[in-house]
Amino acid sequence: MNFKKIAALLLMTAAMQTQAQNNSTLVVKANQVKAEIKPTMWGVFFEDINLGADGGIYAELVKNRSFEFIKPLMGWKVLGKPKTEGDFLVINRNDENTNNPRFLRVTLHNNTSHTIGLSNEGFRGMGVKKDLRYDFSAMVRKKSGDVKLVLELVNSKDAVIGTTEVNIPATGSDWKKITASFNSTATEMKAKLNIWIEGDGELDVDMISLFPADTWKGRPGGMRADMVQMLADMKPGFIRFPGGCIVEGFDLARRYQWKKTIGPIEERQLIINRWNTEFANRQAPDYFQTFGLGFFEYFQLAEDIGASPLPILNCGMACQFNSAEVAPLNQLDPYIQDALDLIEFANGDVTSTWGKVRAGMGHPQPFNLKMMGIGNENWGPQYVERLQLFRKAIKAKYPDFKIVSSSGTDPDGGRFDYLNGELRKMNADFIDEHYYRKPEWFLSNAARYDNYERGTTKVFAGEYAAHVNWDTPGIRRNNWFSAIAEAAFMTGLERNADVVEMASYAPLFAHTDGWQWAPDLIWANNLTSYGSPNYQVQKMFSLNKGTHVVPLLQDNKALEGADSLYATACLDKNTGELVLKLVNVSAKTITKDVTAEGVKKLAPLAKQFVLASAPGNVNSFAEPMAVAPVESTIAIKNKKISLQLQPYSFTVIRIKMQ
Ligand code: AHR
Repeated sequence: MNFKKIAALLLMTAAMQTQAQNNSTLVVKANQVKAEIKPTMWGVFFEDINLGADGGIYAELVKNRSFEFIKPLMGWKVLGKPKTEGDFLVINRNDENTNNPRFLRVTLHNNTSHTIGLSNEGFRGMGVKKDLRYDFSAMVRKKSGDVKLVLELVNSKDAVIGTTEVNIPATGSDWKKITASFNSTATEMKAKLNIWIEGDGELDVDMISLFPADTWKGRPGGMRADMVQMLADMKPGFIRFPGGCIVEGFDLARRYQWKKTIGPIEERQLIINRWNTEFANRQAPDYFQTFGLGFFEYFQLAEDIGASPLPILNCGMACQFNSAEVAPLNQLDPYIQDALDLIEFANGDVTSTWGKVRAGMGHPQPFNLKMMGIGNENWGPQYVERLQLFRKAIKAKYPDFKIVSSSGTDPDGGRFDYLNGELRKMNADFIDEHYYRKPEWFLSNAARYDNYERGTTKVFAGEYAAHVNWDTPGIRRNNWFSAIAEAAFMTGLERNADVVEMASYAPLFAHTDGWQWAPDLIWANNLTSYGSPNYQVQKMFSLNKGTHVVPLLQDNKALEGADSLYATACLDKNTGELVLKLVNVSAKTITKDVTAEGVKKLAPLAKQFVLASAPGNVNSFAEPMAVAPVESTIAIKNKKISLQLQPYSFTVIRIKMQ
């Protein structure tokens, strides 16, 4: 044989081998459990960013209800013309009430209908629905005179779409809460609330509030039901709150302090939201944290949706990108005490100091808190030395309590390597890893955890999202390509469930007229919300979580991108099912047979859920389910499953084992 012929033969053999490899059958070894999948595996990350809480899930419609924004009348407009200078006064009683110092004093001079009043613009408008009840309340003080409020919901053209009147009782020198309810006669995305003030005398007013009646579980002053439902539908294993960088604050004074977020809402001291002016191109100077959604409500939300609570607390360091302030080590006690007290607030007996506070808020039963994060994206030796002090105090009192520690801002590089080393040396319970990267990074990192150290320290993939068009911010970043890249990566998380015990996409919510950071999992306007394709991926993983990982192999190797295919398999011991997850990131249909080993029999029919779309496709308010799973059944013969994996698809198959 001459050289040319040998070369041709070699090429042919190589080509045949490639083909054979491409066509090779996948094997699932159902009796070889590799790892347990914790019930916490897939969760959600909540932060008050993008109008996530105020103006988002917290259903309050009045912005700046207690006049505490930097500009006291931000969000408000005076209606009509005051007769004399000083008819509207913002009074600051800081010495008497440091948490809620400002209120408004209105002086009336026999004002008749529609001569003087106030209008609130809401958070980028108020979303109101036809025939729905709206509950108004305010704190008032009136020493003398007859005063009446005429409330009007008006649409974007100032036409009245709902009205009622409230007579203000004489209150003497005390404050009294007044309430009134009325229906909206129309659905409107950008309504406003007008409050006309009629009569004579002097009225003090504060905490002006308007809530829809259709809050989650009908709770007065509660959360937007549509947005909570989106979370409940995911059946998340945990909910991390309240962030994010919001925990760190721009500086220590503006850090998140949970104790200031509980108790009567009029006593919760608001602060500037740190995302307020963080990005020059996405300014939101009217973005504050009123803490109407505070730690008690977060715990309640976790309980409602069946998720384990995962609060994150400040570690004595403010955002290192901003002020980089640190509390000196010898002044860390109040921070550590906050952590210890939070455990007591969540779990303590009703006779304990903080357990009693929880019970007083209406929840005598414990919230069953088992873990807590100390620090968000903090780094450096300053973080390690502070974390150690927290750990010592918490473990001394609650030895089984798990602590989540930070690995900084990036999943690699010097800061990450340093922290990863230090935290593993101290046998950290969880290391929180964050990756905001291009989709290509997710595709090439599906094997990231295959060779990770297996030991006591577990990974919490606490914030991740694939960012397409890195340099062009916008919601089209939430396209199917980003979602499918995340799905591919998540197969690697599931395969390594003995290393990665929790994972959450970030951020969670974004208001379409008020976001600072994109992409995001769920988009909302003033009336509705929809899940991005990335939401559909998260939901499909979470609803098909399974309990134990088993090998799914091609040529004895895990599927981590060979032939554009990523896959994982698990058992669901609760339902007796075998669950396969396969991601085809190519433009072609992939035909594959899967044979099951280590199982006696498979049911003849399996359930199949397919998410498939063109890479650039997105969901939107107009087409919220453009990218959504399609359910079908698939036949199984002799423990063999013949798969047609659509181009750019994520497929889940659930098969009863018999
Ligand atoms: O998710 C948005 C931000 O990203 C978080 O607040 C922060 O932890 C990360 O930098």
